[in-house]
Amino acid sequence: MLCTLLYLSALIGLAGAQIFSLPAVFNISSCPITFYGQKYEQIYVNSTNVCFIDLFNNQTRQDCIVGFPLLAGKALFQINPFPSKDAENYIHMTLPTITGNIKCIVGVGSLSDVYLANFGTQTAVIIGGSISSVISLMVNGITVDTLNSNTFWQLLDVSRCRHSGVLYKYGEVVSSDPDTCSCVTCDDTAVLRVTGCPRTGRCQGNNTCVFDSICTVTGPTVIDFLSQVNSVPDRCAYSLLSGSSVPGFHVLGNFRERRRKDVSFVDSVTLQLDGPGVQIQVDQDGRVWLDKNTLTLNSTAQVVHGVELSKDQTGVTAKVVLSNKVVLVFFDGNTAQIHLKAPGGKDPSLQGLCANSSVPLSSVRLPAAYSASGCEVHYSDSADSSINCTMMTERCNLLNEAPFTACHNYTNPEPYITACTDTMCNYPPADGLHCQFLEAYARACSLYSSNTLEDLMSEAGCSPPKAFCQGKMCNAHEFCAENTGGEPSCFCRAIFASPYISAGTFGDPTICMQNSASVTLVGCLLEEKGFNYSALHLNDQTCTGQVDEQTHMVTFSFNSSNTCGAVVTINNSQIFYMNTIKSQNSSSDVITHQDQVYINFSCFYTQPDVKTVAFRIMDHSVIQQITSGPWNYTVTMKAYTDAGLTQAVELSTEVQLNQKIWVELKTDGLDGGLVTVVTDSCWATNQASPSGSPRYDLIIKGCANPTDRTVQVKGNGLGPSNSFSFNMFRFSSNSGDVYLHCKLNLCVKQNNSCTPICNGGARRRRSARVQYEADSSAFITMAWTH
Ligand SMILES: *[C@@H]1O[C@H](CO)[C@@H](O)[C@H](O)[C@H]1NC(C)=O
Ligand SMILES: *[C@@H]1O[C@H](CO)[C@@H](O)[C@H](O)[C@H]1NC(C)=O
Ligand SMILES: *[C@@H]1O[C@H](CO)[C@@H](O)[C@H](O)[C@H]1NC(C)=O
Ligand SMILES: *[C@@H]1O[C@H](CO)[C@@H](O)[C@H](O)[C@H]1NC(C)=O
Ligand SMILES: *[C@@H]1O[C@H](CO)[C@@H](O)[C@H](O)[C@H]1NC(C)=O
Ligand SMILES: *[C@@H]1O[C@H](CO)[C@@H](O)[C@H](O)[C@H]1NC(C)=O
Ligand SMILES: *[C@@H]1O[C@H](CO)[C@@H](O)[C@H](O)[C@H]1NC(C)=O
Ligand SMILES: *[C@@H]1O[C@H](CO)[C@@H](O)[C@H](O)[C@H]1NC(C)=O
Ligand SMILES: *[C@@H]1O[C@H](CO)[C@@H](O)[C@H](O)[C@H]1NC(C)=O
Ligand SMILES: *[C@@H]1O[C@H](CO)[C@@H](O)[C@H](O)[C@H]1NC(C)=O
Ligand SMILES: *[C@@H]1O[C@H](CO)[C@@H](O)[C@H](O)[C@H]1NC(C)=O
Ligand SMILES: *[C@@H]1O[C@H](CO)[C@@H](O)[C@H](O)[C@H]1NC(C)=O
Repeated sequence: MLCTLLYLSALIGLAGAQIFSLPAVFNISSCPITFYGQKYEQIYVNSTNVCFIDLFNNQTRQDCIVGFPLLAGKALFQINPFPSKDAENYIHMTLPTITGNIKCIVGVGSLSDVYLANFGTQTAVIIGGSISSVISLMVNGITVDTLNSNTFWQLLDVSRCRHSGVLYKYGEVVSSDPDTCSCVTCDDTAVLRVTGCPRTGRCQGNNTCVFDSICTVTGPTVIDFLSQVNSVPDRCAYSLLSGSSVPGFHVLGNFRERRRKDVSFVDSVTLQLDGPGVQIQVDQDGRVWLDKNTLTLNSTAQVVHGVELSKDQTGVTAKVVLSNKVVLVFFDGNTAQIHLKAPGGKDPSLQGLCANSSVPLSSVRLPAAYSASGCEVHYSDSADSSINCTMMTERCNLLNEAPFTACHNYTNPEPYITACTDTMCNYPPADGLHCQFLEAYARACSLYSSNTLEDLMSEAGCSPPKAFCQGKMCNAHEFCAENTGGEPSCFCRAIFASPYISAGTFGDPTICMQNSASVTLVGCLLEEKGFNYSALHLNDQTCTGQVDEQTHMVTFSFNSSNTCGAVVTINNSQIFYMNTIKSQNSSSDVITHQDQVYINFSCFYTQPDVKTVAFRIMDHSVIQQITSGPWNYTVTMKAYTDAGLTQAVELSTEVQLNQKIWVELKTDGLDGGLVTVVTDSCWATNQASPSGSPRYDLIIKGCANPTDRTVQVKGNGLGPSNSFSFNMFRFSSNSGDVYLHCKLNLCVKQNNSCTPICNGGARRRRSARVQYEADSSAFITMAWTH
C-alpha cells in the first residue's frame, strides 16, 4: 500500500495526506465533485464504499463507488487544490472526452485508492491499487458502470447529464418540442443545454424557426430586432435596415428635434429601392412621396415599384417581398416599426440600427446629402423642471401591468420600458408621448398575440390608435402635435424657435421701407400660444395678415397712404406711425378663451437734419436726401421766375434786382396727407453760415416778414410743399454773394393746425396751435451771387 501511495503521490500528489478512521465523512466543498451529473460537496467512506452525500435530499447516499475489497479500518484523505500538469495530461490522454482544465483532486487511499478529479462540470474517477474485485459505480443504487480489472490504474469518465433521474451522454437529446422548437441536449461538457429559435426567430410549430422580429423606432429610441435599446442623439438620417439578404432595399430613418434641441424624434421614414432607383418617403403628416411626387393612397394596397403601399387612419404601411423575405414598414408619424420575416432563424447579414442598435452611430449615419448640415451637432438644453422623472418611470412601468401582462409571453416589455423612461425623463410630458410608448409596445405585441391594439390601448386609458397628424402639413421648421384645443397644430422646432424665444418676440423686427412698414410674425410661435394667426388684423380690421402657406409666416403691412388705422404721434424729433396687430375682436363674445394679441410696431419720419449746405444760385436747386429715419423722404428747394413755378432759375437765367422770384420748398415721400411741411423761417446772409450777419429776414415764424411787403408765403403747412416769393435784392455794403437759409419742420396735420396764423403787420402773434417744434427744424440754404 505504501508503495502504491508513493507512486500515486508522484502522479497526482497525495503526499502529506492525513489518516482517518473509517467510516468517515469528508467535506469536499472546496473541490466539489459532479458524479454522473450531480454535484456533491460531501463524501462518506467506509471499508467497502465511497458514497456521495446528498445534502438536499435527507443526506441520502445512493450514489456510490462500491466494491473495494475491505479497505483497512483507516484511510488517507486529501484534497489537492493544485494538481500537476502531468496529471492533467495523463487524464486527457487516457480519457479524450474530458476537455478543459483540471481544477482539483479529491483522494482517498487505503488498500485501494480512489481519486476524483474535478474538471469543472466533468469528472474523472481514477482507481488504483491492489484491486481484485469488481468495482461498481452506482447512481440511485443502480450500477451504471463497472471496473473489472486487475490493471494497476483504472480511469473512467463519469461525466453525464442527469435530467429527472435519467442519465444522458454527451450529445444526447434530452427532450425536444417541435411546437416551440425547443430542444434540450447534453452538451460536450456534460451540461444540459436548452436550444430554441434565436432571439430574432419564431417557431413555426414544426421545429422550424423563421426570422421574425420587429424593430421599433419611436421618439429618439431604437429597439432593434434583438430587443437592444439605443437612442439617436442628433438630427441626422440613419440607416435602419439594409443587408445582402435584402439586396437593393434600404430603410432610412430621419430624425429631427421638436420641443427640445437635445431630444430627436423619428420624423420621416424613407425606403430606397436600388433596382428601380427610387425613393419612397413617408412624412409625419402621412404624405407619401415617390421621389418628388406625392402619392394618393387608401387602405387598398397600391403597388408602386413592387412596394405595396397602403394608408389608413392609423398610419402608412409599406410591404416589400424580396425573394423569400417579407418586410413590413409602418409609420404613423411618431413611431416606425419594421417587421421582417424570413426563413432561417438568424440573419447575420442584416445591417443598420434595426439589426444592431449598439453599433457606433457614425457607422450607420447617412452621408451629409441626406440630412441638414450640422445635424450631428449635440445640443444640451437646460433641464425641464416640469419633468417628474419618478412619475414618468411609474407611467412607463405600466407596461409591466395589466393589460400588457397578456403580451409578456410574446414581446419583452423591458426594452420598451427603457425607451419610455429614457425619453420621458428628458422631454416634457406633452404631445401624447406617454401613450406613444405604450402603443408601440401594444402594436408589437398585437402582431404575435390575439390581443388587439385597440383593446390594449383602451384598457390602458389611451385614445384609440390614430395617426394624429395625418393631413396636417407642417413645414421643415415645424413639427405637428396636439394643441391645447386637442387639434393637430404646427409648432416650431426648437432650433428654429430658439432665437425668437431668447429675444422674446413672435417674429422679425419691423421693416420700414420708403413709406411702408411691415412686420412678419412666425405662425408656429403664435400657434403654440393658441393664437389663430389667420385671424389677426391691424387697427383697421380689414387689414389682415398675408399668410405664406409654405412658411406659415404672417406679414402685416401698411404704408403712409394706406395707414390701416395707424396712430400718428409726434415727439420732438420723430413722427411715429404706429399700428397694432390684434386678435379678432368678436363683439358678440362676452368672454374669450384666448389671450388677446397686441403687438405694436411703428415706423417714423425724422425731422430733417440740421445741416446747412450752401449752394450757389447757378445750382438753382437743392436736393437733400434725408435718410436719418427708417422712412425716407427728400426735401427740395428750387427757385422760379414765375408764379406757376414752371420757369426754373437756370444758370443762364438773368435775374434782375427787384425781379420777383418764387422759391418752392418741397418734400417727396410725405404723401400720407397726414404730415405736412412747414417753412418756419427764411433769411438771407452774405456768407455761407446761416448765423452770419448781416442778416435779412424774409419769413419769420412761418409768416412773411411784415416789414418787407414784397414777401408772400403760399401753402405753408398745408401739404408736402409750399412756396414763397420775394423781390430780388442784394446786400448794399458787402460782396455780391447772398445765401438764402430756410428752417423747415414736419408737422402732423390735425384740424389744419399746421398752418401758421399770420395776421400781418405788427399784430402777428405766435399761434399756440402750431404743432411743429422750431428748435428741431432743419435748415436748407440756397445761395446766389451777382
Ligand atoms: C464544508 O466546509 C465549508 C468550508 O469550510 C463550510 O462552509 C461548509 O458548511 C461545510 N459543509 C458542511 C456540510 O459541513
Ligand atoms: C458501507 O456503507 C454502505 C452505504 O451506506 C452500506 O450499505 C454498507 O453496508 C457499509 N459497509 C460496511 C462494511 O459498513
Ligand atoms: C430522514 O432520514 C432519517 C433517518 O434516515 C429518517 O428518520 C427521516 O424520517 C427522514 N426524513 C425524511 C423527510 O425523509
Ligand atoms: C413548417 O411549417 C411552415 C408553415 O406551416 C411551412 O411553411 C414550412 O415549410 C414547414 N417546414 C418544414 C420543414 O416542414
Ligand atoms: C383606393 O384607391 C384606388 C386607386 O386610387 C381606387 O381604385 C379604390 O377604389 C380606392 N378604394 C377605396 C376603398 O377608396
Ligand atoms: C452590436 O454591435 C456592437 C458594437 O459593434 C458589438 O459589440 C455587439 O456584439 C453587437 N451585437 C450583436 C448582437 O451582434
Ligand atoms: C413626482 O411624482 C411622484 C409620484 O407621482 C410624486 O410622489 C412626487 O411628489 C412628484 N414630485 C414632484 C417634485 O412633483
Ligand atoms: C405565458 O407562458 C407561460 C409558460 O409557457 C404560461 O404558463 C402562461 O400561462 C403564459 N401566460 C400568458 C398570459 O399567456
Ligand atoms: C382662424 O381664423 C380664420 C379666419 O378668421 C378662420 O377661417 C379659421 O377657421 C380659424 N381657425 C381656427 C382653427 O379657429
Ligand atoms: C421721441 O422718440 C425717441 C425715439 O423713439 C425717443 O428716444 C424719445 O424719448 C422720444 N421723446 C419723447 C419726448 O417722447
Ligand atoms: C401699444 O400701444 C398702445 C397705444 O399707444 C399702448 O397703450 C400700449 O401700451 C402699447 N403696448 C405695448 C406692448 O407697447
Ligand atoms: C431712401 O430712398 C432712396 C431712394 O429711394 C434709397 O436709395 C435709399 O436706400 C433709401 N434709404 C433708406 C435708409 O431707406
